[in-house]
Amino acid sequence: MAHAKPTTHVNNWPNAAGFGDLEDTATPISLNITGKIPAYVNGSLFRTGPGSYTVPLTNKPGQSYKVYHWFDGFAQFHKFDISPPSPDYPNGRVMYRSRSGADALKADIDKHDGSPVSASFGYRDPCKTKFAKFFTRYDRNDSVTGANVSVTINPRFPSTMSGESELVVKTDANQLLKLNGETLEPEDRFTWGSLKSDDGKKRLLDGPLSAAHSCFDSGEEFNYVCNFGPSPYYTIFSLDRTRTTKIIAVIHVSQPGYIHSFFMTKKYIVLCLWQANYKYRGLAFLWNHNVLDSIDRTWNPNTNTQWYVIPRDGSARHDNSKIKVFNSPPFFCFHTINAYDEGDDIVLDLSQFKDHEILWKFTVEALRSDTATGVLTPDDGPRYTRWRLPNVSKTKDHGVAVLEAQSSQAADNIELPTYNPAKSLTKHKYVYGINTAGNSSFFERLVKLDVDTLETKFWTEKGYSPSEALFVADPNGKQEDDGVLLTVVLDGFENRSMLVILDARTMAELCRATLPADKIVGFGFHGSVLMK
Ligand SMILES: [Fe+2]
Repeated sequence: MAHAKPTTHVNNWPNAAGFGDLEDTATPISLNITGKIPAYVNGSLFRTGPGSYTVPLTNKPGQSYKVYHWFDGFAQFHKFDISPPSPDYPNGRVMYRSRSGADALKADIDKHDGSPVSASFGYRDPCKTKFAKFFTRYDRNDSVTGANVSVTINPRFPSTMSGESELVVKTDANQLLKLNGETLEPEDRFTWGSLKSDDGKKRLLDGPLSAAHSCFDSGEEFNYVCNFGPSPYYTIFSLDRTRTTKIIAVIHVSQPGYIHSFFMTKKYIVLCLWQANYKYRGLAFLWNHNVLDSIDRTWNPNTNTQWYVIPRDGSARHDNSKIKVFNSPPFFCFHTINAYDEGDDIVLDLSQFKDHEILWKFTVEALRSDTATGVLTPDDGPRYTRWRLPNVSKTKDHGVAVLEAQSSQAADNIELPTYNPAKSLTKHKYVYGINTAGNSSFFERLVKLDVDTLETKFWTEKGYSPSEALFVADPNGKQEDDGVLLTVVLDGFENRSMLVILDARTMAELCRATLPADKIVGFGFHGSVLMK
């Protein structure tokens, strides 16, 4: 199906096709290569995010259900198989396929004439009808139907180590979706609580929420599950390669929040409760079945961010006195970047928003260039920020987080941050991300940030809207930025997407693999690379 040609777009920077309804590419297609794929880029790029936003209603001819918030778009998964130059393909080869991942959910919506099932991120229904989008139905018996799981994708579940592994997608609900590694077809749904655990029958991992972003180290994966109620609590756990979860700590809090990612070092897990509090100790979420209506929108400048520092060695499992709490002025964040121990201090980098208003700004209507009323301004974007938690072991109970660095220019905003994964849990120098200069209704260019000097480099072209940039290291490289970035870009003028490979040192384009006319990879959230 050809996408409708846009008529008017904010600032003549068309991006509406990135928020449109996609069709599957079930049979892999070969993409048109311009430039040359570096010899070491040999493997697969997986991407996940929304692929459609409407459901035509069978019983209401001419009417459709329309998704309100970007985060609620229906799942679509993409796979690019990348081969380096060979005699048959002197510039290299890229094969592409995609698969929708929420067919059952959409059928359920149609069956209920547009107003079915359970919880979501930002559903707005004047009748407070239950509905499933970003989140999914969560029943006490762990059964899941119609799940829309589309935020992060890991081809090496559990963990990120090589060996026997599965392709698994996660979201901020306690739901995981296993895909077929080749066809991307959904095969199995499960929860953290359904796995083997060392917590016996306590069922600590049966709560409704988790983090879409796990942390990883040495073959283990780490995450949390949040439970609401009179005494809300976060259960921090690890998962080993035998698919057994191990409880590290249980933290009771007065105000549970929307926490999309967290930090880890070699010694500690740091759960940072920035300001995005669920009202009524989380019971608002259980009532509203969506995040936006459940978060306290009033920004309180006097309510501190709390940084819970939990030893990874398990010593806090039955002794919460081992957990230290640091405080800082309030902020909001989706994405932590990296953290590491430095002596007795912890250094933590994140993409920091001044407040949580961005949650209400990411509606489909506000981001699409043909419906938006203005640009996404640099002030709307998050700034790179570094915090330090000093003298952790010597801190008795409470400490003060120290603001150490922050990109000073709003134009240097950086979201969907990535870095050379070899630097995980250690000091890093470069961060890559998407950025807005205020020329488009959505993020419009890529930025490379040197966190030591706060100097930036950009990759931009009028009408191009890039996605998260994933780093692939040059195996013969010497420097942290010796490698390439893989990013999927919408060419808004040509109305098609392309995989672009950039030199991570210079941010110069090396190669692009272009999809056929009107073939779009929707604006999504995250991806991962699996090199051979
Ligand atoms: Fe994310």
